[in-house]
Amino acid sequence: EFKKHTSIAIFGASGDLSKKKTFPALFGLFREGYLDASCKIIGFARSKLSDEDLRGKIEPFLKKPNGDKDSEKVKQFLQMVTYISGPYDESVGYEKLRKEFEDHEKSNKLEHPNRLFYLALPPSAFVAVCTQIKEVAYAKDGHNRVVVEKPFGHDLSSFRELQNDLAPLFAEDELFRIDHYLGKEMVKNLVLMRFGNTFLNAAWNKENIQNIQISFKEPFGTEGRGGYFDEIGIIRDVMQNHLLQILTLLTMERPVGFDAESIRDEKVRVLKAFAPIDYKDVLTGQYGPSEDGSKPGYLDDETVDPKSKCVTFAAIGFKIQNERWDGVPIVMRAGKALNEGKVEIRIQFKGVPSGVFNEQIAHNELVIRVQPDEAIYLKVNSKTPGLSTSSQVTELDLTYARRYKNFWIPEAYEALIKDVMNGDHSHFVRDDELDVSWKLFTPLLNHLEGPNAPTPETYAYGSRGPKNLVKFLEEHNYVFEDRNLYQWPVATPE
Ligand code: BG6
Repeated sequence: EFKKHTSIAIFGASGDLSKKKTFPALFGLFREGYLDASCKIIGFARSKLSDEDLRGKIEPFLKKPNGDKDSEKVKQFLQMVTYISGPYDESVGYEKLRKEFEDHEKSNKLEHPNRLFYLALPPSAFVAVCTQIKEVAYAKDGHNRVVVEKPFGHDLSSFRELQNDLAPLFAEDELFRIDHYLGKEMVKNLVLMRFGNTFLNAAWNKENIQNIQISFKEPFGTEGRGGYFDEIGIIRDVMQNHLLQILTLLTMERPVGFDAESIRDEKVRVLKAFAPIDYKDVLTGQYGPSEDGSKPGYLDDETVDPKSKCVTFAAIGFKIQNERWDGVPIVMRAGKALNEGKVEIRIQFKGVPSGVFNEQIAHNELVIRVQPDEAIYLKVNSKTPGLSTSSQVTELDLTYARRYKNFWIPEAYEALIKDVMNGDHSHFVRDDELDVSWKLFTPLLNHLEGPNAPTPETYAYGSRGPKNLVKFLEEHNYVFEDRNLYQWPVATPE
């Protein structure tokens, strides 16, 4: 039971990730009653800060959906938080940490303490910090959980190196590798939707599905962080991890059980059935200035090499070579500096046989909108109401804001930290999954970053992406329906 008395250490406590995500998530759990005031939270970083300094830094990011009612909780929460400063690769700070943990655990008379170590740190620090944790701050007669954040390597060989360094320190079930997309409500719903609905399950195959698309769109560019992004690119940033996680959950076979290992076994199995990515089946882009000139292009960032071929948009065609998916085109696409912010999964079904209806009947499409405004809708053909007998495209619509007004939908990080406390690995990435996914992406990355790298197509900041995208999607069997005839009415709550 990690809800009570747990000792929590957050490494990288003065950084952006912990300020914006980790502390707010812990607060969200505390606010909603899933983390007890008897827990102790210690921030750890190199900067010299007082407890009050750290509290002041994180307070503005703690969310108060119930207004003043939550202000008292903010105060209580901040009292649970203290700070230790120390180098990451020497034992001094870790000894202080152990002492504080032990004092806390003794005063709560805990024989078998629970310790949670959260690394909100770049991977260059992983090994040093994990080594010190294991040597100095690990609870030998308790339960230890260690949370790490992506990137898990830069390619297959650096991932394996990292894995070889970490594996001797912690057992696989003590390690929680966060991919925060696995904590999103709609992503968590995928397995249930697919295997809990006979009609969807029955149609989920090459006989019925014409094309699958997973798209990620962000309306902003790298905004001054170009120097950092230049080494990474959109494929490593969101595709090899977040979108691939979605894709495996969408395409895996039915697990033998809904426990973490059974699910992850199936994810690995389907990943192994992916054909190598064909370089010709990839469209890359890089954003230039916006059409009105008000927004800078990627290369205008001073921290970026003016000749950089860094990919800020990519569309990749995937093929899965198994009985269920053979021949179904799958397109994953992601881009920064586009016309909107949206993440969605779109399954286009095959057309109905021709000849019966006088008019063109649209393809069914199932859209799972991950964010914003979580929704699942199915585009269906239906008779125009009234005397008319003509068909019309409409939707069966499950929009969360309308259907589930009084539900607390946790943020991804809240859901995931709760899982860590429960020891549930279902929504975390297993080592062998990473090995297969890096194997899949590394040759493509080497090609795009090698001496013969193609030049990405320029698209304007704020546009829909490279001009060739429409053609690319059509080549992957996506049929564009007339947008004048149907557009999903983004639902706002009544
Ligand atoms: C992160 C990427 O992993 O995911 C960012 O590094 C990206 O570049 C972010 O913006 C997107 O996450 P979300 O939850 O805002 O969709």
